[in-house]
Amino acid sequence: VKFSPLAERLARDDTQAWNVHRLASERRARGEDVIMLTIGDPDFETPAVVVEAAYASMRAGRTHYAYSQGDSTLRREIAKRASAWAGRSVDPSRVVFFPGAQAAMFSVCISVLGQGDEVIVPEPFYATYPGIFAAAGATPVHVPLRPEREFQLEVAEVEEAITERTRAIVLTTPHNPTGACIAAETLAALGELCREHDLWLVSDEVYGSLLFGDRRHASVLAVDGAEQRVAGISSLSKSHAMTGWRAGWAVVPEALVTRLVLLLDCMLFGSPPFIADAATTALRDADAATAEMRAAYESRAAVVARLDGQAGLRCHMPQGGMFIMLDVRACGISATEFAERLLEREGVSVLPTEAFGPSGAGHVRIALAADEQILAEGCRRIARFAAGLQAPARALS
Ligand SMILES: Cc1ncc(COP(=O)(O)O)c(C=O)c1O
Repeated sequence: VKFSPLAERLARDDTQAWNVHRLASERRARGEDVIMLTIGDPDFETPAVVVEAAYASMRAGRTHYAYSQGDSTLRREIAKRASAWAGRSVDPSRVVFFPGAQAAMFSVCISVLGQGDEVIVPEPFYATYPGIFAAAGATPVHVPLRPEREFQLEVAEVEEAITERTRAIVLTTPHNPTGACIAAETLAALGELCREHDLWLVSDEVYGSLLFGDRRHASVLAVDGAEQRVAGISSLSKSHAMTGWRAGWAVVPEALVTRLVLLLDCMLFGSPPFIADAATTALRDADAATAEMRAAYESRAAVVARLDGQAGLRCHMPQGGMFIMLDVRACGISATEFAERLLEREGVSVLPTEAFGPSGAGHVRIALAADEQILAEGCRRIARFAAGLQAPARALS
């Protein structure tokens, strides 16, 4: 049998990147003591009030077809959230509900990118982006987020990467895997570039409610004069520990709304009304739960940061999100080897980030989705493992 060019483009091999996680999951399934710090799935429960709202909605018969753009009450709540991020009123007509930010990213990207187009994306990048660009037939052009610059994006480097084939710039803020946030001024400068070169500015902001310190989220929705070319994407997955509910959205110009709704019509034919009701409750009544989770991730990051300076390890403090980058370059082995041997010797699984772009080389990503005791034990083991790597070098000198 033959497959379509789209199916062939999607058939990429990223097993190497997730090898450590796969091995760790197998070991854990066999009952071994493994500390899993690879995946960004919150270890918190979905707030009870949200679960109850879903039950009540199903009991009330909200179990039938619904309009593709998303429930209007829910879109009003999302628009309120988006307005707070934008610093001005966002009309609910600009909101499209999706089963998760992933589906929103996919749908927006295949609606604005096509065969032969270039899309500028900072690297290291979030693992699923290459598949999305491949589906669209677009070529990613990478701009580095260098560890030496705390993974901050340089506008000049984005500008240099623009060619006549560039169609969009795709950002992630707060960033996965690096934890870096893009400043409002940088977003404004990128908005200016997009206006000059007639580009889309797409921003994945799923960690936008999880910022550390007194930092406030700078959203692409706040960029002045760019409403006609901006797509702001987010979800409840991380902010409300709702990864399994599949509740996300895109805020886009009305011309793109029409196209996204046509796409959703042929792909999903509406989203579940009881999920919409639960999501409405999450946005209305569960901010306290988000605040608690945010505080927990921040203090977990502080636990991991104690690794900084131990046995040649360096921690990059995240500005937000659920991950912390550990620089293992001084250990004398690649990040992949570090992660594989760490799992083997100490039963801790972390994600080597070199598969997500050259600037991720020599780093592993630690997910903050485990409680402080577990993280502290994981870090003790990481430090012991790194010290063991240094010991022969010391013995020689
Ligand atoms: C940067 C980024 N975007 C999107 C997603 C997926 O979000 P959702 O569960 O809303 O599809 C993730 C999940 O880890 C992520 O890290």
